[in-house]
Amino acid sequence: MEFLTSYQKQIATSLQTFNAGKQPEGLYAPIDYLLALGGKRLRPTLVLMSCEAFGNPAASALAAAQAIEVFHNFTLMHDDIMDKSLVRRGAQTVHEKWGVNTAILSGDAMLIQAYACLHEYDASLFKSLTTLLSKTALEVCEGQQFDVDFEARTDVDIALYLEMIRLKTAVLVGCAMQMGALVGGASEQAAKQLYTFGEKLGLAFQLQDDYLDTFGDAAQFGKRIGGDIIENKKTILVHALNKQGTAAQQKALQKWLADKPANEAEKIAAVTTLFKESKADKATLDYVRQYTAQAFDALDKVSLDDEYKQRFISFGNWLMKRTH
Ligand code: IPE
Ligand code: IPE
Ligand code: MG
Ligand code: MG
Ligand code: MG
Repeated sequence: MEFLTSYQKQIATSLQTFNAGKQPEGLYAPIDYLLALGGKRLRPTLVLMSCEAFGNPAASALAAAQAIEVFHNFTLMHDDIMDKSLVRRGAQTVHEKWGVNTAILSGDAMLIQAYACLHEYDASLFKSLTTLLSKTALEVCEGQQFDVDFEARTDVDIALYLEMIRLKTAVLVGCAMQMGALVGGASEQAAKQLYTFGEKLGLAFQLQDDYLDTFGDAAQFGKRIGGDIIENKKTILVHALNKQGTAAQQKALQKWLADKPANEAEKIAAVTTLFKESKADKATLDYVRQYTAQAFDALDKVSLDDEYKQRFISFGNWLMKRTH
């Protein structure tokens, strides 16, 4: 990840003073709190990398990178309310620290600020970027609603699950890359091809997130381990068990997913054991590899210098091994 440090630094610096001194503090302090917690800054890094790959300096895409990162943080602020998550990036979530009303309004403000970042671009680029962001943002909402709906459904197959994660997560990764490419001066066609690479990489990324939610290390991952199990999320681990587990394992999982447990730790331990015994954990890591390979196939179709392709491949390989 070393070669990404310089991009991350540029992004961190540009976000440091994002809302400094603005009033009312009750609106802006939670935004800067979440932004300062950092995270991996994957999406804005991809914006900058994509811009450079097409020949413009990364600095020209900094406003687009900010827009994507602020938008992403807005989705996290609201997602944590929806998922009842108490911990994000190793710290208290905004709704836990300031209350749900604050997290709703500060999140709304971030969505507006994301668009405002794009005012920096001239009319024609502004139109392309906002058209893409609006399409993507609505798809993220659709994905989030499917994710919530699926908690209570028992008829969700793997194809529906994949479509849900495409919408809630993958399209934003694609959007980040397409935006960077557009600012970089790419043709519409090349920018769309890069979108496809980002979208596939985003699928692999969400599959890995599902894996880490059960099998990660809380200190590294920065989120509660087992949160998806408690929320009865139909993650890739559930689909893998339903595909390859024994009838008894499938029945046991169904029972746990239907229950509101008195003892959450007991449910997490039991479901984790079922995932391990059915080798759903290994199958999930295979899916991650498979989707990363598909992403690389899509990258192959983009006409780009080998040097830049190699950078994207290193990025994808790093994502696959991530533990946070
Ligand atoms: C978390 O995204 C939300 C998902 C789509 C899984 P990241 O894992 O990129 O979160 P940060 O920004 O690094 O904290
Ligand atoms: C998040 O999915 C997708 C969006 C925020 C749009 P998750 O709910 O799996 O993300 P985490 O695990 O809370 O980061
Ligand atoms: Mg969620
Ligand atoms: Mg969540
Ligand atoms: Mg998750």
